[in-house]
Amino acid sequence: MIVSNRVAVPSRKAGASAGGLAVALNDVLRARGGLWFGWSGRIGAEQDDAVLVERGNVTYAVCDLSHEDYEEYYNGFANRTLWPLLHYRLDLTEFARRDLAGYRRVNAYFADLLLRHVRPDDVLWLHDYHLIPLAEALRARGLHNRIGYFQHIPWPSPDLFLALPNHAEIARALCACDLVGFQTERDAHNFGRYLVEEFGASACEGRRMSVAGRELRIGVYPVGIDRLGYARTAARAGRSAFIREVRESLSDRTMLIGVDRLDYSKGLTQRLDAFERVLAVAPEWRGRLTFLQITPKSRSDIPEYAAMQRALGETAGRINGLYGEANWTPIRYVNRSYTRGELAGLYRLAKVGVVTPLRDGMNLVAKEYVAAQDPEDPGVLVLSRFAGAAAVLDGALLVNPYDIDGTASAIRQALAMSGDERRWRWNAMWSRLAETDIGGWAGRFLGDLDGLNGVPAPSD
Ligand code: UDP
Ligand code: G6P
Repeated sequence: MIVSNRVAVPSRKAGASAGGLAVALNDVLRARGGLWFGWSGRIGAEQDDAVLVERGNVTYAVCDLSHEDYEEYYNGFANRTLWPLLHYRLDLTEFARRDLAGYRRVNAYFADLLLRHVRPDDVLWLHDYHLIPLAEALRARGLHNRIGYFQHIPWPSPDLFLALPNHAEIARALCACDLVGFQTERDAHNFGRYLVEEFGASACEGRRMSVAGRELRIGVYPVGIDRLGYARTAARAGRSAFIREVRESLSDRTMLIGVDRLDYSKGLTQRLDAFERVLAVAPEWRGRLTFLQITPKSRSDIPEYAAMQRALGETAGRINGLYGEANWTPIRYVNRSYTRGELAGLYRLAKVGVVTPLRDGMNLVAKEYVAAQDPEDPGVLVLSRFAGAAAVLDGALLVNPYDIDGTASAIRQALAMSGDERRWRWNAMWSRLAETDIGGWAGRFLGDLDGLNGVPAPSD
């Protein structure tokens, strides 16, 4: 059983900006089958049971959230407290007891609904920061099944995490799991260090920790994509009418691409500033580049996101106003989302992929950009060193996104790169993508969880 706040039930509007978690879990479930439980995405009355939707080998079990749940749990504690804190943005972190109460309440609600569907031999795999207290809530209701948790977003150092007023409660709740997985060594190390420093946990063998008499295993499982499937989709999409139309609209200009939910963690204004710097210092590129920035709106009811939306629109407008001509717009800034196939074709068309988050758990867009390239004539990836993907994609031009001049030079280096260098860099990244293929990711996590014992039932 997979449990996450966001569930991507098929037949919903195509191309909805569900984000990396939903994209990854969809791939896993289609391959393995199972039940996927979570929020329907709708506001309504809390339910007594989830609504089940069967699609092939997958059962989707979804429930509504009340207006208070949506405000306190989703917009509140999950996205105004945990999201900024875990992305190292203490300056944006808000803490309200009312939101915390809502967060606990929704996790208890999920636990009650889930219990109706769990069979004794089911393995539960929980996902992401919305559901940190869920394993503990399930244990409190007498569940003894094996439970794993995967954190899709970063885990900061104890210095930062200690700023959360209820840090001990949150970290302790994760210890009710048998296995806790992270995207990178750094995230796993940060969490382990917290357990040692705050709870006096002792490290057993490897990544096994003993915390308050229970054994917890911590692991690193970088999430990936289906690289061969993605490459096939991109090759096909490259020949589609949609891509032909976009190519014609470029009139031989070189396209650069960025694809991100509208989120302050993605470094979007810094990225546009870096592109502006290219136009400012390298006038020979003026009129010859088109930057396509695809940015579906996300979490728009949260003030920081609404502010970001305004700031980004202004920045794109200012740069277009300053450098644009009657027959040339430097930045195509688009707030809608695209389907997997359309995106794959756009990545393939773009000579430079610019992925510059200030902090990101993994960033699937970086991996998709690489998988979508034509191996004979690949584009270049400019990638933030603060994305989890940087640990794998060492053939990218790695940048510090806070350094606008540095990112601008990397973009210029990408634009001028020889075919030979582009090919060897791409080959290096393409091979590394195999290490974190999506099937292997789930297989390794579930294999490790399978090797653990769960909590012994009282009769054991
Ligand atoms: N995505 C999409 N359509 C869009 C924009 C994004 O399908 O218009 C997908 C994108 O292909 C990727 C995911 O959304 O698989 C974003 O994942 P990522 O890890 O890059 O960032 P997140 O949104 O999870 O922070
Ligand atoms: C990131 C998070 C996911 C989340 C997604 C989209 O990928 O790790 O947990 O589902 O963003 O955000 P949303 O708030 O729309 O679910």
